[in-house]
Amino acid sequence: MGNMNTLYLVLLGGPGAGKGTQADRLAEHLGIPHVSTGDLFRDNLKRQTELGLLAKGYMDRGELVPDEVTVSMLRQRLLQPDCAGGAILDGFPRTEAQADALEQLLADLGSRLAAVLYIKVPDDILLARLSGRWTCKACGTMYHQLYSPPQQAGVCDKCGGELYQRPDDTPATQERRIKVYLAETAPLIGYYGNRGLLVEVDGRPGIEEVQDQLLAAIEASAQ
Ligand code: AP5
Ligand code: MG
Ligand code: ZN
Repeated sequence: MGNMNTLYLVLLGGPGAGKGTQADRLAEHLGIPHVSTGDLFRDNLKRQTELGLLAKGYMDRGELVPDEVTVSMLRQRLLQPDCAGGAILDGFPRTEAQADALEQLLADLGSRLAAVLYIKVPDDILLARLSGRWTCKACGTMYHQLYSPPQQAGVCDKCGGELYQRPDDTPATQERRIKVYLAETAPLIGYYGNRGLLVEVDGRPGIEEVQDQLLAAIEASAQ
């Protein structure tokens, strides 16, 4: 692994693979921040920033936001003091250019990636997961109407916040996001495989079982 004192991890996987769900849990478990570029764009949109308004068009179509904009946003986030010990990257990198930029950025910080955890899930399961997803408006916790339902419909178990369905979770945009993932992001499986950083995890079982596999993989990569 990289610098002994840091733990930078990437979660790689298609839309709905469980990156956000697992990153939240790993962040709590490992005591490092969960950094999701999708969440950063959504937060910018909520605050109606220029960046948020720019990203909205791409997100609504299921296309990638241009690399330059995305890399500069991610860079600012990683330079925050809470990321000094490491971070769990969710949804970044998504292109080879972003992966190259990440390598450079971590090198500038005197560190490097510890591992890339690829959560492998077949396309039909991805669609089933996306179409049942509900997210808390207040704290971002994810639920699924069949696989991890809240105790009370529409209400977050953790904070009582209101649950909503993401605007990019329409059937047409879901299909497009999966296509874009296969064309632009899936090549990173080979990219990181060649660098000896890739660890593949079976993403089909339940949330707890996937989490156990991820923790075991992180422990093994830290040896
Ligand atoms: P982003 O927000 O990253 O969306 P995504 O990649 O499409 O992935 P999702 O968040 O939809 O899925 P997830 O893997 O987090 O799954 P989740 O844990 O929610 O990106 C959105 C958009 O932003 C992009 O389309 C793009 O426009 C832009 N963008 C973001 N990053 C970018 C970048 N780097 N470059 C350019 N553009 C970028 O789980 C899904 C559901 O399944 C939930 O309901 C959950 O409860 C359930 N579930 C999870 N795990 C399990 C399990 N093991 N068993 C059963 N159910 C499960
Ligand atoms: Mg997510
Ligand atoms: Zn909540």
